[in-house]
Amino acid sequence: MSRPPLLVVVLAAGQGTRMKSALPKVLHKVGGRSMLGHVLAVAQQTKADKLAVVVGPGMEAVRAEALVHAPHARVFVQAEQRGTADAVLAACEALAGHSGDVLVLYADTPLLLASTLEDMRAALDDGAGIAVLGFTATDPAGYGRLLTDNSKWVRAIREDKDASEDERRVRLCNSGVMAFRLGDILGVLSRIGNKNAKNEFYLTDAVEVAGAGGARAAVVTCSEDEVLGVNSREQLAAAEAIFQRRARLAAMREGATLIAPETVWLSYDTKIGRDVVIEPNVFFGPGVTVEDGAEIKANCHFEHARIGRNARIGPFARLRPGAVLGTDVHVGNFVEVKNVTLGAGAKANHLSYLGDGSVGAGANIGAGTIFCNYDGFAKHRTEVGEGAFVGSNTSLVAPVKIGDGAYIGSGSVITKNVAADALALERSSQEERPGWAAKFRAMMAKRKAKAG
Ligand code: UD1
Ligand code: CA
Repeated sequence: MSRPPLLVVVLAAGQGTRMKSALPKVLHKVGGRSMLGHVLAVAQQTKADKLAVVVGPGMEAVRAEALVHAPHARVFVQAEQRGTADAVLAACEALAGHSGDVLVLYADTPLLLASTLEDMRAALDDGAGIAVLGFTATDPAGYGRLLTDNSKWVRAIREDKDASEDERRVRLCNSGVMAFRLGDILGVLSRIGNKNAKNEFYLTDAVEVAGAGGARAAVVTCSEDEVLGVNSREQLAAAEAIFQRRARLAAMREGATLIAPETVWLSYDTKIGRDVVIEPNVFFGPGVTVEDGAEIKANCHFEHARIGRNARIGPFARLRPGAVLGTDVHVGNFVEVKNVTLGAGAKANHLSYLGDGSVGAGANIGAGTIFCNYDGFAKHRTEVGEGAFVGSNTSLVAPVKIGDGAYIGSGSVITKNVAADALALERSSQEERPGWAAKFRAMMAKRKAKAG
C-alpha cells in the first residue's frame, strides 16, 4: 500500500534543568549514544521522508548532534518555551512544505521501538486523523490522561494539572508521541490556545481541536518501559537498565552465551557473533565487533575495536580504539592494545602495552613488552613481522620495525630496525663469580655474631 510521505518532528528544546547538568538533557547518553541519537535512529528506521528537529536558543551542540545522526534534518529554534504545540509550530516551515503524515517525537524518550511507530501509522491508515501513543502507567501522576469512552477513540487528553478528580483516576496515559494525517495540521495547531494551568500551548489539545472538525483520534498502546521519559539522572539510569536488558537479550538470541548477562554492558552498536562466550563483568563501549566463536574472559574493557573469529581475550584485557585482532589471536591479562592490528594467531598473553603499530600473523609478544610509541610530542609506529618472537620485558622504541621471524632477546631496549630472521639483543653480558654467594654469606654471618 502506498502511504503519504512522512515528516518526523523531534522536540528537543528543553534544557532539562532536573538533570543538574551543563550538558543539554538530550545529549546525555544511553547505551553509548545520546538520547537524541536514539530518537533520530528510530525516526529513520520508520522511513521518515523528512526530519525536523526543534532546539532551544543557543543549543549549538544539540544542533550538531542532530546533524551527526541525521545529516538531512532541518533544525529549527523555538525562541521561547511556550509549550509542545508551540514547539511543533517552530518547525512550521517544514510543515508548510509538507503534505502527508506528521509524527511528533520527544527527544528525551530514547527507548521507543520502530514497530510501535509502525502501529501508529497503521492506525492512520485505518482512518484516524490522529494517533496517540498511550500506556498504562504504574503511577500516572504528572502524565496527561487519555479520555476514551472505553473505546479505541480518544475524546481528549487532559494534562495532570488540569484534570478533575475523576479524570486523575484514569491510568491510561499519554506518552507524548503523536501522529497526524490531517488536511490542515498548521490550522489545527494555530487554533490551540493556552488557557490552562501552565499557560502553555499544549500539543495534546490537537485532539479536541481536530475532533471539532470531525477528525478522530485513535489510541495505540505500548509498554511503559518503551516510553520512559528521562527528566533526571535517576530516570537516565532506569533507561540505561532497560536498554541493557534489551541489548543482552538480543545478543543471546543471536547466539552468544553471556554467563552473567546482568554484568555485561553493551553499546547501541555492539556486534556479537554466534558462539561467542562472554564471562562476567565485561564492558563494551561504542564501535565493537566480536566475530563468531571468540571467547571473552572476565573483566575486560573494549571500545572501537574488532575481535576476530575464535580469538581469546582476557581476563583483564583492555582494547582501545583501533585495536583490530585477527582470527585466533590471544590477548591475555593486563594487556592494553590501541591502534594496533594483530594478524591471525598472534599472541600477547601477559602485561603489555601495544600502541600504534602492527603485529604480524603468528608473532609472539612476550610478557611485559612495551611499544614505546610516544616521545612526549608525537606518536610513532612499531611494526613486528610475521612469526617474530619478542622476548619478555622488551621495550620497542618507535618508530621501529622488527622483521619477519626475528628474535628479540628478553630485556632489550630496541631502538633500531631488526632484519628478518635475525637475533637482536640489547643488554650487558652476564658475569658469573663461582662461590661468591657462599663466601659472602659466611662473612656477613661472622660480622653479625661479633656485633652481638
Ligand atoms: C507531555 C505531554 C503529556 C505526556 C507527557 C509524557 C503535553 C502538553 N503534555 O507533558 O500529556 O503525558 O509529555 O512524558 O504535550 N518541549 C519543547 N518546547 C516547549 C515545551 C516542551 O521543545 O515549549 C519539549 C521538551 O523539551 C520535551 C517535550 O517537549 O522533550 C515534552 O515537554 P514537557 O514539558 O516535558 O511535557 P510534559 O509536561 O512532560
Ligand atoms: Ca516530560
